[in-house]
Amino acid sequence: MQFHLFNIQDNSNHKKRIKMKIGVTGATGQLGRIVVEKLKEKVPANNIVALVRNPEKCSAMGVEARAFDYSKPESLIASLHGIDTLLLISSNEIGQRSQQHANVINAAKQVGIKWIIYTSLLHADRSSLNLAGEHLDTEAALKASGVPYTILRNGWYTENYTGSLSGAIASGAFIGSAGNGKIASAARADFAEAAAVVITSDGHVNKVYELAGDEAYTLTELAAEVSSQIGKVLPYTDLPESEYAGILKNIGVPEGFAAAIASWDVGASKNDLFDDGHQLSKLIGRTTTPLSKVVAEALAQ
Ligand SMILES: NC(=O)c1ccc[n+]([C@@H]2O[C@H](COP(=O)([O-])OP(=O)(O)OC[C@H]3O[C@@H](n4cnc5c(N)ncnc54)[C@H](OP(=O)(O)O)[C@@H]3O)[C@@H](O)[C@H]2O)c1
Repeated sequence: MQFHLFNIQDNSNHKKRIKMKIGVTGATGQLGRIVVEKLKEKVPANNIVALVRNPEKCSAMGVEARAFDYSKPESLIASLHGIDTLLLISSNEIGQRSQQHANVINAAKQVGIKWIIYTSLLHADRSSLNLAGEHLDTEAALKASGVPYTILRNGWYTENYTGSLSGAIASGAFIGSAGNGKIASAARADFAEAAAVVITSDGHVNKVYELAGDEAYTLTELAAEVSSQIGKVLPYTDLPESEYAGILKNIGVPEGFAAAIASWDVGASKNDLFDDGHQLSKLIGRTTTPLSKVVAEALAQ
């Protein structure tokens, strides 16, 4: 009997999900594009709305796209019309994000959005990364809004490292300031899948998830993995923060961003990018993508 009742409940939630409109911000970004793909595997495409600065970039996505700029609060309400569930993917405009995200949350509240899911930072409440402040501001704004929320505290993308492998291999120098810090990164696709799972399943309201990869590695271990795949030794050289930032600047990275990248590595050296709670693999129902696979994919490009 209990099983029967559970099924009725489950079916009614399933039907609700089939009807609900899901808005995805940042859907033209690298994470957002994968989230839309993963959602399309779970709900009809006409339930998904991409909320983006340039709707024309969504023409091949197969979902409705509406103009949505976090910095234009006056336009947000109209674009949110009819949306039930909102995935707010954090902006990449560092320094403007607290205000931008507050604009979105205020508009969502006015429109009567029923649930906001936000992509935050791993252990935002204790992380020494300078990125944490804006995420904490947004988490606080969400909680104060009274709108039901779920916070996905995403760890580092493995692609943050594998994206620059070709340069490291070409120069024979893999450098950083992460010391022996353990990095429990995961592939963007893993985080995207977690967002899609949360949006389309029950039991996540007002929860905070610390999402990280199952496998943790140091940059020395990452260099060893790359070395074994390319058949050539690529040593990792750990540098003082200012020296690493200086080299990044010399190869063309804007000075402020170079300093930020080096400072994030110092955060990594203090294990700010580490977590062993395995909440990500529990959500997605499989182990996170192995480092070796993400490295192999990057090398194949
Ligand atoms: N966990 C990590 O390792 C990590 C690493 C990097 C970033 N992040 C964070 O995670 C987010 C998603 O990652 P990602 O790889 O998808 O980053 P991404 O490719 O840079 O995408 C960022 C998205 O934010 C959108 N955006 C920026 N400013 C906006 C505004 N004013 N109004 C509306 N949309 C705006 C961009 O729109 P356009 O497509 O129009 O440019 C883009 O779609 C990033 O924005 C950042 O907050 C996390």
